[in-house]
Amino acid sequence: MTQKVPDELLAQIADLLLTQTGLSFPSQRWPDLARGLAAAAGDFGCAGAAECARQLLAAPLTREQIEIIASHLTVGETYFFREKPSLAVLENHILPDLIRDRRKRERRLRIWSAGCSSGEEAYTIAILLQRLIADLDNWQIHLLATDIDAQALKKAVQGHYGKWSFRDLPPEILERYFHQRERHWEIQPRLRNLVKFEYLNLAQDPYPSLVTQTNAMDLILCRNVLMYFSPKQARKVLENFGSALVEGGWLITGLTETSTLRFSTLAIVNFPAATVYRKDSGSSRQVKAEAICPTLPPARPPAGWITPRPAHAVPPPSPPQPLPGTPPAAPAPEAAAAAAHVQESAAAPVPEMIRSARSCADQGDLAAALAWCDQAVAADRLNPAWHYLRAAILQEQEAVAEAMLSLRKAVYLDQDFVMGHFALGNLAMRQGDKRAARKHFHNVLALLEAYPPEEPLPAAEGITAGRLKEIVHSTMIMRKLGERHAAAR
Ligand SMILES: C[S@@+](CC[C@H](N)C(=O)[O-])C[C@H]1O[C@@H](n2cnc3c(N)ncnc32)[C@H](O)[C@@H]1O
Repeated sequence: MTQKVPDELLAQIADLLLTQTGLSFPSQRWPDLARGLAAAAGDFGCAGAAECARQLLAAPLTREQIEIIASHLTVGETYFFREKPSLAVLENHILPDLIRDRRKRERRLRIWSAGCSSGEEAYTIAILLQRLIADLDNWQIHLLATDIDAQALKKAVQGHYGKWSFRDLPPEILERYFHQRERHWEIQPRLRNLVKFEYLNLAQDPYPSLVTQTNAMDLILCRNVLMYFSPKQARKVLENFGSALVEGGWLITGLTETSTLRFSTLAIVNFPAATVYRKDSGSSRQVKAEAICPTLPPARPPAGWITPRPAHAVPPPSPPQPLPGTPPAAPAPEAAAAAAHVQESAAAPVPEMIRSARSCADQGDLAAALAWCDQAVAADRLNPAWHYLRAAILQEQEAVAEAMLSLRKAVYLDQDFVMGHFALGNLAMRQGDKRAARKHFHNVLALLEAYPPEEPLPAAEGITAGRLKEIVHSTMIMRKLGERHAAAR
């Protein structure tokens, strides 16, 4: 039986959703809200929509409740190679220019699909990277994909898709990058392993952050997400994206979402096929694409599709190449210059050194970040937080063994240092050491018992005890899903 939800309840639920998820339900969308509540009622053990609304309003929402309600109220509509005009700009200009630039320094790219739904967008980027980078194995690719909808994320981790996800995809791409199994298609394992899926609530979670690896992004795609947000929440998200991008980094929104961007301080770059955004502190708000993209001007891409290109269009790298598996250390002159610069400022107080280390890390200048951090460690050896920060920077440089050493020092100095145990768990997981990972994550959960859920943790960049608990649980669930999936192959 359908329960009518009184307007005052709907108004309160709309307010709650706005603050907790950023999603906007003005009165004209209350029928959608009531339908979503009715659909979620069963999951909450309620008899109908009104009872469900009352239950949600009774106490602060938990992450699980947010996940459930989000899965009924968000629009998860997505498909492979959606919105081809902006993908054409990405494939023909932004990615080739980024790749060319990074070849000269570190072979490192950091990309974030924010609001990834069931993963089609993130895998589309993975396919583009595979097409564009011949020596992909020699690159450090951090391709992060996040969403608030845990059901969608589970599907994304599996990487199984039905025909509808390929509604606008040429068959040759389907054949090349997917395996057909009965009635569904599976993304190639190599592409699946390129993407890291995580739960992240754009309206509530802190970012940029070294902890969630949402810092120093070269490219953020947040398409068809902010159109469901209130203008105020969208502005906050855009401000955070601005801080999460490195100088010269790019933001791509949905083709119909440009009006939200009037709030942003990012420069607007008009390509013939689509408008995108770039962090360019020195420029005016409107930038001519030709002025910043060596790849322009090409001919306009064929209407509505990505320009066909040979399998690997970017020239192969020049020697010397790092040996496979060798951590690509920062280029010596850069590291030396960074260290020299930091040396000059050795008299700076430790908190200032740490601030500089963080801001360099946020901008992707890892050599300088490490040099600052080394200074801080030298000046104040017994503070576990500096060793932890050092480990986070080293991890981004793929210097895993050294990062592990710094983390061990951090937890030796303070056995109750939650973030140290958490980082050790993540590293162990990355190295495939399941037992060690489980042990560290259990340590984290045990230590978190001593904290009230709303308390921010030391050295956690605003992450609270309650949130870390959720992150650990979802990390363990995602890992199990990935393993189960790999075993089923
Ligand atoms: C229409 S889908 C967009 C998928 C993909 N970006 C695309 O363009 O095809 C919108 C996604 O935004 C997610 N979303 C909504 N609110 C969010 C929030 N507060 N934090 C993170 N993701 C959110 C939804 O769960 C949904 O998966």
